[in-house]
Amino acid sequence: SESITVGELAKRMGVKATDLIRVLMKQGMMVTINHPLDVDTAAILAADFGYEIENVAIDLEEIVEAAPDAPESLEERPPVVTIMGHVDHGKTSLLDAIREANVIAGEAGGITQHIGAYDVERNGRKITFLDTPGHEAFTAMRARGAKVTDIVILVVAADDGVMPQTREAINHSKAAGVPIIVAINKIDKPDSKPDRVKQELTEFGLQSSDWGGDTTMVEVSAKKRLNLEELLEMILLQADVMELKANPNKQAKGTIVEAKLDKGRGPVATVLVQEGTLKLGDYCVVGVHSGRVRAMQNDRGEKVLEAGPAMPVEVIGLSGVPDAGDVFVAMKDEKQAKEIATLRQIKQREMELAKHSKLSLDDLYKKI
Ligand code: GTP
Ligand code: MG
Repeated sequence: SESITVGELAKRMGVKATDLIRVLMKQGMMVTINHPLDVDTAAILAADFGYEIENVAIDLEEIVEAAPDAPESLEERPPVVTIMGHVDHGKTSLLDAIREANVIAGEAGGITQHIGAYDVERNGRKITFLDTPGHEAFTAMRARGAKVTDIVILVVAADDGVMPQTREAINHSKAAGVPIIVAINKIDKPDSKPDRVKQELTEFGLQSSDWGGDTTMVEVSAKKRLNLEELLEMILLQADVMELKANPNKQAKGTIVEAKLDKGRGPVATVLVQEGTLKLGDYCVVGVHSGRVRAMQNDRGEKVLEAGPAMPVEVIGLSGVPDAGDVFVAMKDEKQAKEIATLRQIKQREMELAKHSKLSLDDLYKKI
């Protein structure tokens, strides 16, 4: 599966196999039509013939595209929840309050690290929270076709009401087909008007269930920790309705939530595992990078050996810093992972070159 024969490559490029063999002979390779070529050679040959690397890469990309899971292999998984809302409406405070309510006393090290994703436990059930910095990350992920969020918690401050970014968040969620649970926050404030928020939200098709609609709205205070348990309960109820499932017993596949270059540790990426189980030592391909999982830790900075569906983990061992929204695929074969990453790099470079040559053409026209 890691090679393609001369004949197959020629067929795929729509050239005569003899032409291909002639080129190879010029390079000192005496081959027949059934001679297997490794992916790098195939890619270089394809490029020589002016063909897109895509045609060759397809076989390998198919490896990354996992076959659909058999229904009996699916198991319940935690919901992945993204908190959205207008600036200063209390998104971070709410997440902090929820997490603190769940932090196990005397936890090892006591060091909490920000990895952009957290998992919280309630009555033995887990909920994963994504702390996406602003809507851009969410949009970027969606543009890349990454569907990471099951439920959106829309935070609206009861003393401020629906604001531009509230509207944006509603539009994003609707476009992505993600159900919204509204958290009307800051109800401890004397000037809070939760009913006015509910009224405003009806204009966006969000009608509170206590007003006969079908949107769950919970009045909370992150500051005073009011009704946080109820909010968590509502999230789990919504998750039950959605019957969220994944197959934990296969190679992991997930999405990059955020990534950075750490001075000491190199590229560090927060991966939200979505299918399968990621294990220490796994090889992987992420966008144009490959690597091996050398260390993993959870949002509390604790080392973990594996991470199942809906679990966010910080991963060390990648060859470069991926982009948020990049798909992460664990692989058994190191060579394969490297090859896919290499092919993607070649493809990316070609696309950049194409962009530049187009730019210079434009410049040329401008001068004339
Ligand atoms: P950005 O990340 O900047 O978009 O803001 P945010 O939505 O994360 O809001 P943040 O949690 O930073 O809170 C903004 C301000 O509101 C802070 O001063 C909080 O202390 C305050 N605040 C948040 N929740 C509550 C609440 O329930 N009651 C009151 N009274 N103040 C709150
Ligand atoms: Mg914040």
